[in-house]
Amino acid sequence: VLASGVRRVVVGALDPDGRVAGRGAERLRRAGLEVATGVAQEEVEALDPGYFHHRRTGRPRVTWKAGLTLDGQVAAADGSARWLTGPEARRDGHRLRAEADAVLVGAGTVIADDPALTVRLPDYEGPQPRPVIVAGHRTLPGAAQLWERGPLVFAPDDSGGYPAEVVVLPGPGGVDLEAACDHLGELDVLDVLVEGGPAIAASLLERGLVDRGVFYLAARLAGGTGVPVLPGVFPTVGAARPVEVVGVERVGADVRIEFEFTGEAG
Ligand SMILES: NC(=O)c1ccc[n+]([C@@H]2O[C@H](COP(=O)([O-])OP(=O)(O)OC[C@H]3O[C@@H](n4cnc5c(N)ncnc54)[C@H](OP(=O)(O)O)[C@@H]3O)[C@@H](O)[C@H]2O)c1
Repeated sequence: VLASGVRRVVVGALDPDGRVAGRGAERLRRAGLEVATGVAQEEVEALDPGYFHHRRTGRPRVTWKAGLTLDGQVAAADGSARWLTGPEARRDGHRLRAEADAVLVGAGTVIADDPALTVRLPDYEGPQPRPVIVAGHRTLPGAAQLWERGPLVFAPDDSGGYPAEVVVLPGPGGVDLEAACDHLGELDVLDVLVEGGPAIAASLLERGLVDRGVFYLAARLAGGTGVPVLPGVFPTVGAARPVEVVGVERVGADVRIEFEFTGEAG
């Protein structure tokens, strides 16, 4: 390196992976080079946020996606949710899937929607995210499309007899979601997209396991309560959790809002 005349090395961001952190820079310093580190930390982390999150926490970065009416309903009272949003918003949702290593849904969504959770974009040839199902005490339908896709199933017990890799992790409300996130981290899953429904989203939120949200606000009013985006009661204004809105965009007739959790209490 010295022979080539290089004397100063500039490092955008150090790798937070404990196995390598700072060692490369140290070796360069020992070799007599001047090394500046972390000069573009934010910009570099924005290129692969899931990687940095995973290396720091051991868990994947969790994105919660939902399509909802302007008055906050993700499905009608009969359980149907197809389609609240327009084709452009749904296409954008497929792009989110393409960026994820895994797409996670709860039993309620498998039963109500029988989703395929594949990336369906013209000309897309990249990898498909692995489906992850959080099963509960009801038995999942044997004819669900997801069985064809080699899903990973987290279940509270081993009574389901599912044709899939099942990891039994009993916990509050069914599956222990913290342990599930740890398990995904151990599998080197960096980015998880949570596609519902409200019960799983609420449990993940309660445990502080959601890192960002992408909501597609459909240009529609439900006009009543079907399935609200989150279950439960909103007791006082003070209970509302603050988020930082990091993006607002029109997608066709709908609006896409991206937000991150600030870590502050309500
Ligand atoms: N518009 C959208 O973006 C969107 C997205 C997804 C779903 N949806 C709609 O949402 C509705 C389904 O909602 P949902 O809340 O019933 O479905 P869900 O959140 O997908 O599944 C909830 C179920 O997961 C199981 N579970 C296991 N461990 C759990 C834990 N720790 N915490 C919470 N649940 C756990 C339980 O199954 P058991 O009851 O069997 O124990 C629970 O009832 C459908 O109408 C669907 O169309 C809308």
